[in-house]
Amino acid sequence: MSDRLYIFDTTLRDGEQVPGCQLNTVEKIQVAKALEQLGVDIIEAGFPISSPGDFNSVVEISKAVTWPTICALTRAVQKDIDCAAEALQYAKHKRIHTGIGTSDSHIKYKFNSTREEIIERAAAAVKYARNKVDEVEFYAEDAGRTENAFLAKVVDEVIKAGATIINIPDTTGYCMPWEYGEKIKYLMEHVDGLQAGRAILSTHCHNDLGMATANTISGVVNGARQVEVTINGIGERAGNTSLEEIAMIIKCHQATMPVTTNINTTKIWPSSRLVSSLMNMPVQPNKAVVGKNAFAHSSGIHQDGVLKNVQTYEIMDPKDVGIDENSIVLTARSGRAALKHRLSVLGVELEQEKLDKTYEAFLRLADKKKELNDDDLLMLAGSEKAENNHVQLESLQVTTGKGVTPIAAIRLKVANEIFEAAGIGNGPVDASIKALKQIIRRQMTLKEMTIQAISKGSDDLCKVHIQVEHDNHIYYGFGSDTDIVTASVEAYIDCINKFKH
Ligand code: KIV
Ligand code: ZN
Repeated sequence: MSDRLYIFDTTLRDGEQVPGCQLNTVEKIQVAKALEQLGVDIIEAGFPISSPGDFNSVVEISKAVTWPTICALTRAVQKDIDCAAEALQYAKHKRIHTGIGTSDSHIKYKFNSTREEIIERAAAAVKYARNKVDEVEFYAEDAGRTENAFLAKVVDEVIKAGATIINIPDTTGYCMPWEYGEKIKYLMEHVDGLQAGRAILSTHCHNDLGMATANTISGVVNGARQVEVTINGIGERAGNTSLEEIAMIIKCHQATMPVTTNINTTKIWPSSRLVSSLMNMPVQPNKAVVGKNAFAHSSGIHQDGVLKNVQTYEIMDPKDVGIDENSIVLTARSGRAALKHRLSVLGVELEQEKLDKTYEAFLRLADKKKELNDDDLLMLAGSEKAENNHVQLESLQVTTGKGVTPIAAIRLKVANEIFEAAGIGNGPVDASIKALKQIIRRQMTLKEMTIQAISKGSDDLCKVHIQVEHDNHIYYGFGSDTDIVTASVEAYIDCINKFKH
């Protein structure tokens, strides 16, 4: 019989550290509920000492979620642990995740300490946390570059101190898959507490060299029984191991993998869309399992093979990850109930008033665009955010084309007052931003801009992500509209609304 592999999701902690992708508490609760439906065992809800917002999110997620364990991160510091325990007070099942750097470079440069002192601090933190909650996980930061014999000593001591889950992070994404697997095997063979089943090992792999998933699988094959993952593989730098890849690898290789999970794989696609939409973070089209092209066969040879027998080129059934082409397109004829149902499949539950407003916006968009897909619906459900903004776009008129100078006339509402301006530029976006800058007289520089169509067709919604520098700070903005210039200006205004006024 296969062992159970515990899925520890850190989308809301490690994943949420991506600059410009922060979520508010309401959005985090939505994600947490989607993770619960997906069948995740442990939700790392935040790092409570880091900010009042993070503290509050851990409190509210603890109240909102029923069966998964809620986990809070700390450093090996008493005040962090006190704060985490307080934030977890409403969780039905709670876990504190405490730890310290164990590689020589962390010990020397980060802590100016010694190996002996690090072991003492690690064990003391675990003991302290065990007085606050029943379940303590310990992380050995930069374990990937920590010498195995020393790592085994640390693991041994923290198990004696009461930790029952030991996280072995490849913090920098440096390990090779066989090296990471050997590390897990070494620990399994050299730590008494692991052999006696008093604790399990957890993988936590970063993707700097594109090996996070391979390293995680190598860890599991060598004995790890918990994996730390994020939806869409999001996370700082190149991100973390992606949940959907691990879940589908284990499903597709059931016959040879030593483990099974509790993941309901049909919830993968909606969860992926929800996280991408709330975080304004597009999924790369060729991303395994959840990319738009993951199941698209464009080459003639492939299409022919797939038509004759789908297994010729497809190792997964799209339905197994929750893609059902027939159910994801709504049109102007779809009723409120269909909209409500589809949004609930995507993890968004709307109160009647918000549903009515979203339905009105849905009909307006359906007038411009024949078919509305999941991304469009998620966009509409989140669009109310803009209503109370300091700066709002009232109207925008642009004249552009070949052989004419692009001109834009803009009308903004700033703190409830109307302002108008016009500008010319080398293109319609440039002209619009110049007009906008005549009203918003702040020093600001556009650093980066990405324009993306959501799915297909010239009537599609366009998404614009931008970065603007202001006052030595980078602000991230997002806009979407069927009009590419309007979407760009909305993204710029989104940044401005984040400036400290
Ligand atoms: O990557 C890492 O080492 C971490 C720890 C804080 C668990 O995220
Ligand atoms: Zn990490």
